[in-house]
Amino acid sequence: MESGALLVELQRNSTNFAKVVEEIVKMEKKIFPKHESLARSFDEELRKNNSGLLYMTDVHGEVVGYVMYSWPSSLSASITKLAAVKESHRRQGHGEALLKAAIQKCRTRNVHRLALHVDPLRIAAMGLYQKLGFRVDSLIKSYYSADRDANRMYLDFDSN
Ligand SMILES: CC(C)(COP(=O)(O)OP(=O)(O)OC[C@H]1O[C@@H](n2cnc3c(N)ncnc32)[C@H](O)[C@@H]1OP(=O)(O)O)[C@@H](O)C(=O)NCCC(=O)NCCS
Repeated sequence: MESGALLVELQRNSTNFAKVVEEIVKMEKKIFPKHESLARSFDEELRKNNSGLLYMTDVHGEVVGYVMYSWPSSLSASITKLAAVKESHRRQGHGEALLKAAIQKCRTRNVHRLALHVDPLRIAAMGLYQKLGFRVDSLIKSYYSADRDANRMYLDFDSN
């Protein structure tokens, strides 16, 4: 991670909440195609109980990446949206730092499994998930759209 980068948990009552959400929604629109984007449902996602969002800022306080996660039951948690790291800030360890922090947050919820979906054509994301120990469970055809599939991946936590 570049020096000066900060990893922060988004708090609804923080003074910069609206500004941070605005920056994230902008990134979401830029990085993801419409059918994969949470831009329009972002606020709704954030209001869900048992969900959280971590974001990273650079030395100038600009948001450069984020990850969203949730733990709907005591059985499993999911990465709702990884991370998006701004193109200009990629390959500097930000994605890995964000994902590791989200894994840690989910781990403290005492769930057994952390799951996510990713388009297998997203080489960087697949590499990152595999590096942190996620395994492919199955391929779900037409998950994102008629011609875009998803790998369902999981990471099991130790029971001790
Ligand atoms: C996936 C993404 C978050 C990675 O962020 P990043 O900050 O560039 O990644 P990091 O520098 O932390 O890299 C960590 C690991 O990810 C993998 N990785 C990252 N970029 C990669 C690339 N271009 N090709 C292959 N593997 C890659 C590597 O395993 C890397 O470890 P290494 O540096 O030891 O080789 C970023 O590419 C991104 O935002 N992509 C667009 C959005 C996206 O696809 N999100 C996932 C949706 S499910």
